[in-house]
Amino acid sequence: MALLTVKNLAIGYDSGVVAKDLNFEVNAGDYLCITGENGSGKSTLMKTLLGLSEKLGGEIIFGDGLKKTEVGYLPQQTMIQRDFPASVKEIVLSGAQAGMGFRPFYNAREKERARISMEKMGISDLAGRCYRELSGGQQQRVLLARALLAADKILFLDEPVSGLDPDATIKMYELIKMLNREGMAIVMISHDVREVKKYASHILHFGDEVSFEKRKEMAICG
Ligand SMILES: Nc1ncnc2c1ncn2[C@@H]1O[C@H](COP(=O)(O)OP(=O)(O)OP(=O)(O)O)[C@@H](O)[C@H]1O
Ligand SMILES: [Mg+2]
Repeated sequence: MALLTVKNLAIGYDSGVVAKDLNFEVNAGDYLCITGENGSGKSTLMKTLLGLSEKLGGEIIFGDGLKKTEVGYLPQQTMIQRDFPASVKEIVLSGAQAGMGFRPFYNAREKERARISMEKMGISDLAGRCYRELSGGQQQRVLLARALLAADKILFLDEPVSGLDPDATIKMYELIKMLNREGMAIVMISHDVREVKKYASHILHFGDEVSFEKRKEMAICG
């Protein structure tokens, strides 16, 4: 069964429908890129899939034993978030909160996962630094490490390279590709259509009509 199946989904707000008739699947090892103009509904779709925004109709089915707390999410950045006054380690650890319930402290397993996650993202040496004093590229790697803490099978990334310079962008894409090669399914929003075609196994494009395309020439990594 697919990790995620979307059937006839309609998304939007009380003010109206943003997109409808959305149909697609995400399977283990997939790399789905969501592209489209500003305001077309990409972030709304991601928030709806994560249960952070209410769907207006249709179905979202999590399969393959996937629980909502096992999903990693890197939200679209705002300037206010870039100024967050906490240490890198605290921010990465906070990625465990969805799975903690009412328990007030992080346990040893979560702390170990945070250590591994920071190591993978190459930010171990930044652990004690204040988040708001980091460069944009470093901040995005911190947020990716945070998202990784919760994710066992699937990662949702909303414009993870926005505001990054070309080098930091390539580095970020390489990190995401590495996670995908290790078996993590990726659902990523990006404006960078040319670049994402190099990586994506599937593309969901928001235009006048929404299209879902499998890129046949690419091997799907496992
Ligand atoms: N909380 C909200 N309440 C009402 N309308 C909203 C809300 N958030 C977004 N919208 C509207 O829904 C539409 C889709 O917004 P969304 O943020 O999903 O676009 P997007 O494709 O992610 O754009 P961008 O590329 O700029 O990030 C827009 O018209 C936006 O104004
Ligand atoms: Mg958006």
